[in-house]
Amino acid sequence: MHQHTVLFVDDEINILKAIQRLLRHEDMNVLCASGGSEALALLEQDPAQVVVTDQRMPDMCGVDLLSAVRERWPDVVRIMLTGYTEMDIAVEAINRGEIYRLITKPWQDDELRATLHQAFDHHALKSEIRRLNQVSREQNFRLQDMNRNLEHKVRDRTRQLADKHRELRQAYVQTVGALAEAIDAKDAGTRGHSERVALFSSKLAREMDFTVEFIERVYIAGLLHDVGKIGIPDAVILKPAKLDPDEYEQIKRHPAIGAKILERVDFLKDIALCVRHHHEWFDGSSRGYPDRLAGNRIPLPSRLILVCDTIEAMTSDRPYRKGLPFERVFDELTKYSGSQFDPDCVTAMLRLLEREGPDFIRRDQTFDIYEFIES
Ligand SMILES: [Fe+2]
Ligand SMILES: [Fe+2]
Repeated sequence: MHQHTVLFVDDEINILKAIQRLLRHEDMNVLCASGGSEALALLEQDPAQVVVTDQRMPDMCGVDLLSAVRERWPDVVRIMLTGYTEMDIAVEAINRGEIYRLITKPWQDDELRATLHQAFDHHALKSEIRRLNQVSREQNFRLQDMNRNLEHKVRDRTRQLADKHRELRQAYVQTVGALAEAIDAKDAGTRGHSERVALFSSKLAREMDFTVEFIERVYIAGLLHDVGKIGIPDAVILKPAKLDPDEYEQIKRHPAIGAKILERVDFLKDIALCVRHHHEWFDGSSRGYPDRLAGNRIPLPSRLILVCDTIEAMTSDRPYRKGLPFERVFDELTKYSGSQFDPDCVTAMLRLLEREGPDFIRRDQTFDIYEFIES
């Protein structure tokens, strides 16, 4: 049994015999049919790689047979073996892509053999191309699958990382918050001061359309702004009355002390600067401290914190005085806009207070910076 099979179709039995004789020693099976329908029936049982047919036959012409073959077995290589009288039909069939080659009768033996071998090669090549296409299609599917899996994995990992990151930030803010609470707890009169300044400042930062990173930084700076009070004697901090000038000088050291403490922590270095300057006056006058910076040279978070620090302090009860009513805040901010306060901060703060009313300074509000940032 040979690997290759060719089917010859001709209504002249002598032609078929001559062909069989010619190909007797070739490495191929030779099938014969005397008409179109017989050829199709044969192909049904015995697949051939090449079909060679005459054009003019009683039951079916060669072109029709080959187009039927093409439809049912598209890979079979189709050849026409015909006399000169049917040349134009055959040429047309070639042009329509129906057939692979045309051999004219009477044929040259060598040419016929060579053409058949080429036809088998052509068939093998086409099959190989098809097989490769199939393989590459399957690999594509597998790749797409892998890609989809990978995308899922990356999405999952990214989400896990974001969650972790958020957890870490929260732990960090909680730690800073605990520290702030410890400072405020030193003095029963200022309990919750730092946290409220932080809350007010983040709201002001958002009112001024700053980025979430900036709002977060302002919040942390707000929590830590008075951390330097740790270095001020209790007698001064806890004095239940107005301070004398010497005591006031001592109190004025808290921003610098605070900055010194925070400077030593890498990720709080920029916060340290905001803390150092949270009592500078916008006009650069000597009423501000410690460096008498003016205008834009004062870090922006410090300018926001100063406004909020003032609001918190004036509206809270102290052992020696009651907190001032909410309405007084408007007068105070307006009065010191441009001298103590950055006018832009004042404008935004007045807008915010106008909108929120006395609720803004309510003492029982809960606040989560990350909920706030994400809302
Ligand atoms: Fe302060
Ligand atoms: Fe303060």
